[in-house]
Amino acid sequence: MNPVPVRERAPLFVQLHQDDHAGVRAELASGLQADIAFTHPKYLYDVLGSRLFEAITELPEYYPTRTEASIFASHAPAMAALIPQGMTLVDLGAGNCEKAARLFDVLRPARYVAVDISVTFLQDALQCLQRQHPLMDMVGVGMDFSAGLTLPPAAGDGQRLLFYPGSSIGNFTPAEALVFLRQAREAAPGGGLLIGVDLVKPVSVLEPAYDDALGVTAAFNRNMLLHINRLLGSDFDVSQWQHRALYNAGEARIEMHLDAVQDVTVRWPGAQRDFKQGESIHTENSCKYTPAQFEHLLREAGFSRIAQWRDPQDWFAVFLARG
Ligand code: AVI
Repeated sequence: MNPVPVRERAPLFVQLHQDDHAGVRAELASGLQADIAFTHPKYLYDVLGSRLFEAITELPEYYPTRTEASIFASHAPAMAALIPQGMTLVDLGAGNCEKAARLFDVLRPARYVAVDISVTFLQDALQCLQRQHPLMDMVGVGMDFSAGLTLPPAAGDGQRLLFYPGSSIGNFTPAEALVFLRQAREAAPGGGLLIGVDLVKPVSVLEPAYDDALGVTAAFNRNMLLHINRLLGSDFDVSQWQHRALYNAGEARIEMHLDAVQDVTVRWPGAQRDFKQGESIHTENSCKYTPAQFEHLLREAGFSRIAQWRDPQDWFAVFLARG
């Protein structure tokens, strides 16, 4: 008998996001000129910043990545039992696609849609994954999903499971998180959302995770200034800025700041800002939730069937939200 020919699949790539250089400059300038200067955490991630973040995930103090991985290692079959096979797995902020790929064997999706700001981040990883899973449809989408979750037609119309691991939801304010969760529910009718959430825990664990002994998180934070120099044409001197991370218990969030170590004037085309010694730029929030608070947020977003799994120390949770 002749073997049945198998259709060779190749990943499809769609780039939707276009850089808006003027918009980026305007956003950075207005944040730097605010009474309490701030920058959006997305500017932490240039090429070096993304590598430094990968290094952070390996640090002994940074528990979220390995704790989340341990939850998937222990509970993925229980999660899969609640998720129909043959879904479209939509990986939000996919990067090297590793976390989702580890779930392919247990979740058995028919299609994998990897979403990141630029398809160039996804190209090598998707091509490699396609060779390992020749029968799965694979699509790479370059879009800024923090601005909306409307997926292109290339993402297909099958039932969707949105995958948002890593506790990146914590980098939104709770109000922004609610908007995002509502959009996620609308983007996956009849499907669901599998999401990693970092939990409230002792300050003695939280603060070192964002201020490690090797200084990798400090480099990650200060590197943002070099990125901003390239985007805005500013003249930040990183040696004049010090990393500070603190747990704000009232807001249940880790805050990252850059403090001026001396009086500093920062100039960029058309404007400048004087910073007094000790004055700071607020660069990131990382919100932490109790399991009950996050479940409440999911219900407010309209999800009704919610399951969750946690590690034995209750440091991290993975939620599956449907309905
Ligand atoms: C990407 N995000 C979930 C990380 C966090 O823990 O908030 C970013 C990070 N910032 C400092 N360390 C890691």
